[in-house]
Amino acid sequence: MGPPGLGKTTLAFLIAKEMGAQLKTASGPSLEKPADLAGILTSLPPGGVLFIDEIHRLPRAVEEYLYTAMEDFYIDVIIDKGAGARTVRLPLPRFTLVGATTRMGLLTKPLRSRFGIVLRLDYYSVEELAEILRRSAEILGLKAEDEALVEIARRSRGTPRIANNLLKRVRDFAQAEGKDILDAETARRALRKLGVDALGLTSDDLRYLKVLHEKFRGGPVGLKTLAAALSEDEGTLQEVIEPYLLRMGLIERTPRGRVLTMRGAEHVIKISQSSKLSPDERTKGPSPDL
Ligand SMILES: Nc1ncnc2c1ncn2[C@@H]1O[C@H](COP(=O)(O)OP(=O)(O)OP(=O)(O)O)[C@@H](O)[C@H]1O
Ligand SMILES: [Mg+2]
Repeated sequence: MGPPGLGKTTLAFLIAKEMGAQLKTASGPSLEKPADLAGILTSLPPGGVLFIDEIHRLPRAVEEYLYTAMEDFYIDVIIDKGAGARTVRLPLPRFTLVGATTRMGLLTKPLRSRFGIVLRLDYYSVEELAEILRRSAEILGLKAEDEALVEIARRSRGTPRIANNLLKRVRDFAQAEGKDILDAETARRALRKLGVDALGLTSDDLRYLKVLHEKFRGGPVGLKTLAAALSEDEGTLQEVIEPYLLRMGLIERTPRGRVLTMRGAEHVIKISQSSKLSPDERTKGPSPDL
């Protein structure tokens, strides 16, 4: 489990590769009926790996079939309807189930407790992201100053997917300017043009901070109230938006509700000041880190 883009799917693929096992993938919403699950489970070779992405979106009826499969390697399928209906027990080969979710809170307890290993992926550090970017740059055949890569890493919200995407967009800028080497100055300018702020916050994050600052005067405000003000669902705030803001020390969760920290307030003020500038001034950038 963990926020989007941290490598859950990639890890599932790596597990199968390391095990030298065949991998089948499915996603929660694609397994509509128990028969869909039965089909995929019975077609797994012994020792195979089944990866179910977005496992929190598995329909309840399908989920229940998974219980016996996970515990005792069989499923009971119902054949025929009405008076002739009967259950047939289908034995399954031994298999490894990997489930991925961004929303652990939406997983039912019985399903969650049947997993032998529950791992939470956390955001990457700037140094770790820079390392990923060095490798990606090499794969892209891009020469880059280390400082440029660190700058991208710093604005990637701790997320490899974002880091890799930004690298490609920044590379485009360098290429368009006819640069052989991506330097830090070009990277900063490109990131500014791409609208990525110094902390790598997205417009959703900024809206959250702004509403907390302006509408609720920095809190404390309850999750429900905040979610209503943002027209977002509570789970999305809690599991997608807030983790990074918390990690950056921009907000705090207190018993009385969400609170904007001093750092958070400073950031909102800085951003709203810079958005009052003309687009041209903004690109030139009055302050180097905005
Ligand atoms: N440790 C890592 N090193 C290099 N690249 C990585 C690493 N972790 C993730 N990536 C890259 O980041 C991208 C996103 O990874 P992935 O799709 O596995 O994330 P995810 O957690 O499954 O996201 P989602 O929740 O959106 O499905 C991929 O392109 C992957 O190659
Ligand atoms: Mg994924």
